[in-house]
Amino acid sequence: MPTARRLADVPAALQVEGLVKRYGAHTALHGVDLQVDSGELVGLLGPNGAGKSTLTKIACGLVRPTQGRATVAGHAAGSTQARTSQGYLAELFRFPGWATADEVMLLHQRLAGSTQGAAERADLLALVGLDDARGRRVEAMSKGMQQRLGIAQALVGEPRLLLLDEPTSALDPAGRRTVRDLLVEVQRRGVAVLLNTHLLSEVELVCDRVVIIDHGRVVTAGRPDELVRPRGVEVETAGGRRIVAGAGRADAPRIVAELVAAGEQVYGVQVLSSTLEDVYLDAVGDSEAVRTGGAA
Ligand SMILES: Nc1ncnc2c1ncn2[C@@H]1O[C@H](COP(=O)(O)OP(=O)(O)OP(=O)(O)O)[C@@H](O)[C@H]1O
Ligand SMILES: [Mg+2]
Repeated sequence: MPTARRLADVPAALQVEGLVKRYGAHTALHGVDLQVDSGELVGLLGPNGAGKSTLTKIACGLVRPTQGRATVAGHAAGSTQARTSQGYLAELFRFPGWATADEVMLLHQRLAGSTQGAAERADLLALVGLDDARGRRVEAMSKGMQQRLGIAQALVGEPRLLLLDEPTSALDPAGRRTVRDLLVEVQRRGVAVLLNTHLLSEVELVCDRVVIIDHGRVVTAGRPDELVRPRGVEVETAGGRRIVAGAGRADAPRIVAELVAAGEQVYGVQVLSSTLEDVYLDAVGDSEAVRTGGAA
């Protein structure tokens, strides 16, 4: 997996400090700190209503924070410099049905002030696998194609930061994989990504870091492999399977040796660790249960 570039003299692609957002009496964000470094792919997870889209909209200048600040490549969110440094794909977007893929791209080049012309449009449509569909109207595209076109328009003007609000929610498994591969390629080009999603497997597979928010607060953050914890060692003997709780990888040889010394035959041994789903449900489980009216 590509590693994030952490250069001391380069401002973070996205820096969010003490962000508070109140919608009337409702507080959607309670003081959120978050950073996306250059070239880093960060997954933003959380239950419905946690504040993910609010945070993303503040980052791209569509919503004003009540307190705190957000900067994109060192510029205040919403400023012209910040906007030219970022690309955004909204949670619910709809391009005009009559426009072709190429026309959608042209429109966004005009909006972004890009002077890269046909070469940029061709490059980005090829990047998302739509090179053969440049003349196709949006209304004749599948959801997956529209989603990929959405990512292509967000990349117009060579942004340093891509803000994607649930870019795979409407896609089938093959479409999700295509977008995942696309994100890896985007990151390879040096673009930082804040990926807002409910798909934990997606985060586990492509993200350098994950930030979990709930009720407008960051409840967990870290690298996916750092967040998962050991859950014991499972051994299979003639007597069946059992789990030695609290044991880790380093204990496995001793456990096997002791079983063999005791005359048991060992058919299998597996080191168990919690999944990102366990980590997520530990962090927000009660919220999920409250929202669904049952146990998480
Ligand atoms: N324009 C608005 N006016 C009033 N309340 C809002 C507005 N936008 C969002 N909210 C509220 O703020 C909270 C956070 O909403 P937000 O859309 O940021 O959540 P989310 O994490 O993106 O959820 P989802 O996973 O469902 O997309 C919710 O309680 C929502 O009802
Ligand atoms: Mg949302």
